[in-house]
Amino acid sequence: MRAAIAVVVVLLAGCSGRQNALDYASDQSRAIGDIWHLMLVVCGIMYLLMMGLLAWAIWHARRRLPDAPPATEAPAADGLLRKLLGSWTVLIVIGLFVLAGGSFFVDRKLAQSQDPHALQVRITGSEWWWQVEYLDPDPSRTVVTANELHLPVGRATRIELRSNDVIHSFWVPNLNGKTDLIPGRSNFQTITPRRTGQWRGQCAEFCGLEHARMAMDVSVEDAAAFERWRAAQLATARPPQSERQRQGQHVFMTSTCASCHAIMGTDAAGRVGPDLTHVASRRTLAAGALPMQPGALAGWIEDPHAHKPGTNMPATKLPPDQLAALVDYLMSLR
Ligand code: CUA
Repeated sequence: MRAAIAVVVVLLAGCSGRQNALDYASDQSRAIGDIWHLMLVVCGIMYLLMMGLLAWAIWHARRRLPDAPPATEAPAADGLLRKLLGSWTVLIVIGLFVLAGGSFFVDRKLAQSQDPHALQVRITGSEWWWQVEYLDPDPSRTVVTANELHLPVGRATRIELRSNDVIHSFWVPNLNGKTDLIPGRSNFQTITPRRTGQWRGQCAEFCGLEHARMAMDVSVEDAAAFERWRAAQLATARPPQSERQRQGQHVFMTSTCASCHAIMGTDAAGRVGPDLTHVASRRTLAAGALPMQPGALAGWIEDPHAHKPGTNMPATKLPPDQLAALVDYLMSLR
């Protein structure tokens, strides 16, 4: 009994989770889930039939082993075999037609999810992080962030996918299938979320040493929460509020940080690494490799290769008081 309960618990657990293609949270993932279930049923029936026939054949052969079959039985068995093979062929053809039809309709559904009022987002993959831009006809209203995606529930978001270096693949299993990010071209994916919540995206194409640590933190929010987030992201960075934060900002501007990172509202305008204007409002650091906490941030600045050995971010050795001031300043950028 206990074993049965354990099996049910494991099966149910397998159908939920923040990185799970069977825990649908959008129109697109539901369509993909439908074809998945159709394939499971068709192939499952075929498998069970096949195993059943195999078992029957073995049982029958063993029963007849001691002596050869009487010659008179042969024509009847031959006829039965022919009928069975004929039915089997018909079954396979029907199964394949059902699968091809299902695949055709799901493909059409995914291609049709174009919406002229969709939110426009551009995601650019780099080794090993994601730049995320919320595009607006007025360029001054473009939001730039990194490694996090906020989506409004019930509204389509059209995502343009590009790459800065090698081929990456954007995959948030709860929201849609995989789409490659290819250097020199744009691919598109539409997501229409139907449920608020937090999900995990992951680069799904091997792209080098830190491929596994190229995650995306995805939040689906109601429209009001999404607009609040967007308005907060549009603001320039919060100025330092204390002497220590002022010292931290000075460290940022005079060390190597500012040559790779941008902080809107300051002179830092580097575009090599993630935009840090509202870095502390994110939930993770280094594309999901670390939590957004002062200790983790200090460790990341001091020795990024200890946490993500392939990262292009260089280590920044600073005296302890300067490092603490820098972390204090960055953690104030909410
Ligand atoms: Cu980027 Cu794998």
